[in-house]
Amino acid sequence: MKIAIVGTGYVGLVSGACFSEMGVDVTCVDIDSEKIERLKKGIIPIYEPGLKNIVVRNYEADRLHFSTDLPAILNDMEIVFIAVGTPSGKDGTADLSYVMTVANTIAEHMSKPLLIVTKSTVPVGTSYRIRDLVRKRLDERGLTDLRFDVASNPEFLKEGAAVNDFMSPDRVIVGVESEEAKNLMTKLYRPFVLNNFRVIFMDILSSEMTKYASNAMLATRISFMNDIANLCERVGADVNMVRRGMGSDSRIGRSFLYPGCGYGGSCFPKDIRALIKVAEDAGYEMNVLKAVEEVNNRQKDILFQKFKHHFNGKMEGRTAAVWGLSFKPETDDMREAPSLTLIRSLREAGVSVRVYDPAAMQEARYYLNDSIYYATDIYDAANGADALIVPTEWKEFRLPNWSILKKIMNNHVVIDGRNIYNMEELASYGFAYSGIGQ
Ligand SMILES: NC(=O)c1ccc[n+]([C@@H]2O[C@H](COP(=O)([O-])OP(=O)(O)OC[C@H]3O[C@@H](n4cnc5c(N)ncnc54)[C@H](O)[C@@H]3O)[C@@H](O)[C@H]2O)c1
Repeated sequence: MKIAIVGTGYVGLVSGACFSEMGVDVTCVDIDSEKIERLKKGIIPIYEPGLKNIVVRNYEADRLHFSTDLPAILNDMEIVFIAVGTPSGKDGTADLSYVMTVANTIAEHMSKPLLIVTKSTVPVGTSYRIRDLVRKRLDERGLTDLRFDVASNPEFLKEGAAVNDFMSPDRVIVGVESEEAKNLMTKLYRPFVLNNFRVIFMDILSSEMTKYASNAMLATRISFMNDIANLCERVGADVNMVRRGMGSDSRIGRSFLYPGCGYGGSCFPKDIRALIKVAEDAGYEMNVLKAVEEVNNRQKDILFQKFKHHFNGKMEGRTAAVWGLSFKPETDDMREAPSLTLIRSLREAGVSVRVYDPAAMQEARYYLNDSIYYATDIYDAANGADALIVPTEWKEFRLPNWSILKKIMNNHVVIDGRNIYNMEELASYGFAYSGIGQ
């Protein structure tokens, strides 16, 4: 089986590498020629555990190829996946220009039957827009008999665990409108779900909606717990206990009940905005999701507010150490990361900032330039700081040497955005501690 994946980012590269691992002949296509040249040399553009091995192994086995030239390879393929970005455009609408550019290229150059699969997260109806665009162009080119199908196959991988998520998915969602498309997608995904066939077929519109609805539900749980945590602080309850109590109810479950300093990343914020907009365009108001977004925006400011509160508003000339910059551990992705909101507010308040992240230091320079100090490790970051602030819970932050920190820090304040430390333990070392919802 020969497939192409257009867009070699987090989703395209992981999908392409994992399909090739199962014996599929995959070509990953991107317009970024530098990225493609680096991939051919085995240089992986993103930090994603386990990815490099699979990419290099399959590239060397000649099952995984990289190209910048979609027209040149298109007519060798049975399936083309579209996995380019769909960032927030004006008013939160998903910007479909990258998706439509790829659809145009396909329409312009295809001359054999093809299955066109949308893997990018797109508003409901987008696959039909692609279908109509391709049909129109093929007709204009005189190829009125040329058959093609469209399908929707949204991706659910989590950055930081993407390879494992792709290789052993909870389920695979596929929207199709023909038996041929269903058979091709079954053939492609069967190796991933051999023992328990977890591919859920449905119509295309429902498939596109499933992706948005899933992200919206997860974001809702996060904002709900952040609201509960903030109330816990005000009434003297401990959200860690509340979370455990709630999570043991089988109707609720334990996942996604962790309060923190807000959700970020390349998916939740933009997908929530896009779904609100999809609803608006359909004449419906998503009241719950609007509140989810509002709570999240407020929560992203909470670490700064705690810092400000601790120093009674007198922040100018202080120094803050920030541990963790990526929007979550095990990734270098900083898109819409809570750390960015925090650091920008600190800088505006005249606070010097010393940062450390195990993977995102290079990415951080892109967002924050020379406005902050880039430390070599957690202790370098904490050296001389008035407060230690933790927006991201990387494992290596969980058991630091508090005695060393006590010696090297100027003031002994810890603001814990992910509730990874124990208040009593820190108090025993002489630190003032502030978590979320405790
Ligand atoms: N990142 C995630 O965790 C995740 C998870 C599930 C779904 N998604 C969705 O998947 C889609 C892709 O996300 P991502 O994070 O992989 O994006 P990304 O920004 O990491 O990668 C997109 C890639 O597409 C390339 N590209 C843009 N236009 C192109 C064109 N015309 N031809 C070829 N390549 C082109 C870019 O150069 C880039 O390398 C988005 O819709 C996103 O919402 C992302």
